Amino acid sequence: MAIDHAFLDELNARSDIVDIVSRYVVLKRQGANYFGLCPFHNEKSASFSVSPDKQIYHCFGCGAGGGVINFIMRAEGLEFRDAVRFLADRCGLKMPQENADPQAAHRRERLLALMKDTARFYYDTLWLPEYTPMQQYFARRGLTRKTMNRFGLGYAPDSFHATMDAMMKKGYTKEELLDAGLAVKNEKGAIYDKFRGRVMFPIIDVRGQVIAFGGRVMDDSKPKYLNSPDTRIFHKGRNLFALNLAKKTQSDYFILAEGYMDVIALHQAGFDSAVASLGTALTEEQARMIARHTKKIIISYDADGAGQAAAQRAIDILKRADLQVNVLRIPGAKDPDEFIKDKGADAFRRLIERSEGHNAYRLEQIAAKFDLTEDDQRVAFVQEAAQMLAAIANSVEREIYTGRAAKLADVTQDAMTVEVRRAMGLRRKRERTAEHRAIRAAVQNAQPKDRALHYDDVKAARAEEGVLALLFTDAALLEPLAKRLKPEDFTAPVLGKIYAHALELDRQGAPVSISGYEGYLDDGELALLSGILSRTPVSERRQQALDDYIKIMDERRTQRKLEQPPEAGGEDPMITFSKMKADKMGGK
Ligand code: UTP
Ligand code: MN
Repeated sequence: MAIDHAFLDELNARSDIVDIVSRYVVLKRQGANYFGLCPFHNEKSASFSVSPDKQIYHCFGCGAGGGVINFIMRAEGLEFRDAVRFLADRCGLKMPQENADPQAAHRRERLLALMKDTARFYYDTLWLPEYTPMQQYFARRGLTRKTMNRFGLGYAPDSFHATMDAMMKKGYTKEELLDAGLAVKNEKGAIYDKFRGRVMFPIIDVRGQVIAFGGRVMDDSKPKYLNSPDTRIFHKGRNLFALNLAKKTQSDYFILAEGYMDVIALHQAGFDSAVASLGTALTEEQARMIARHTKKIIISYDADGAGQAAAQRAIDILKRADLQVNVLRIPGAKDPDEFIKDKGADAFRRLIERSEGHNAYRLEQIAAKFDLTEDDQRVAFVQEAAQMLAAIANSVEREIYTGRAAKLADVTQDAMTVEVRRAMGLRRKRERTAEHRAIRAAVQNAQPKDRALHYDDVKAARAEEGVLALLFTDAALLEPLAKRLKPEDFTAPVLGKIYAHALELDRQGAPVSISGYEGYLDDGELALLSGILSRTPVSERRQQALDDYIKIMDERRTQRKLEQPPEAGGEDPMITFSKMKADKMGGK
């Protein structure tokens, strides 16, 4: 998967980070750096910094950071390779042959071309005179010609080979049709069209490429929708229907619907930020994709029980991606599509305005389970509501909804508060146990040799970060350093990993800069590195600073060895330790 360093360096050289970031953020120069409001979290004062020297960005507020490629990944919601391509297109570089297996890249390109040609074929078919009933199907469902074109809707002929024939005439092979999920093979080995007699919805990725299809029957037969399987170019949980359109919206919220037709009806009614997860439960990855484009999401799922249960699950996933979540309820209709068809766009806009925060929504869902005129059911409601309220982190918010729950149960706010406090106590206890366990595990992972966090460890960590910051400033320090310092000498494995990679880059004759780390470190590690580079001042007297840092690291290492329990047959560490201390004091 790796793209070679030479190309990435060239790309970075041509894509100045200040230039690129300026297209998304208003930057002001302050000293050597630029500052602005972070595009990745909500803030009022500028904690987002860009360093033209180091070609990195880092937000001291939310901790995001990296190089220009990582910035584009986040800002445009792209995968690494696509962000590289995005930048390459922008500065007129040609993408290098993709990875070690150029054939794989070729096959991918062919599949994409095949999908595009197939979409075209379905579209052309739909508009043949003999298929007017299919055109009328969409018209009956309220879609205009313009909308149909906008979504590239089509029709797959009711034949076992029409699509295959058409594509093979264009030079594609049966293998390719199978790979693309457009054809299937039965047990007897016969190969035939997967989509037959269905109206077709192309699924288009953020780069505008057709990567899959959904196909709907025109009557009541089953399955209602048939979707492309996962392929080389399509991964269900990693795409959202209509994100290619929604990403261009001016609206400050997104709408999350369940179905293809809901999204299409919403867009036609002017809600151009609607997307849908593709017939599966929403994934964490899809939530993060949404969060790259907006701060607020309005869940607009079907009114039935299944839709509401899915909404409850989606709330948690979307909250974890730091989105503000509202839930919209559709009175008197099955789904957004039907509602808009019956009552119109303005009525839907009012539903949006009246959509509730997820807390109010959850409370009402709980209340609906009980008959609040019965005393014992009121008690049960109070208990379940208290559990839900105890999970609200913001105290003002919690108080507001505690009041609302009290009203619903017709008890005093004080009584309700007592129940919520009790639930919070239990919850905190549970969490504390879990948290302790997690912290202990993290400390053990990060510093396998140590247990307690030592003051000297903090000092050593600073020194380690200092070494890295120096290397990024002056790579000439690296070669002589390789003999003195090993990756294992770093206390945190991630720092050792960064150092080892610097050695590797240097060996390959590549510069030690952020560009060599993008696509190599994950987002969290990259943000850690950009943080180190942004906050660590680099001394003018570099060699001296480096020697000092290494001395601190050495001392901490020696000390650490002494703190370890004695090995069988080894010298008593206490004796050695006092001797060392004495030596040191004598030496000073
Ligand atoms: P719905 O059954 O709510 O469909 O499924 P819908 O969008 O309202 O369809 P219309 O209005 O009858 O045309 C919601 C979504 O679940 C997926 C599809 O993505 C659909 O849009 N689905 C549903 C399937 O993948 N397969 C099915 O058989 C049914
Ligand atoms: Mn529907």
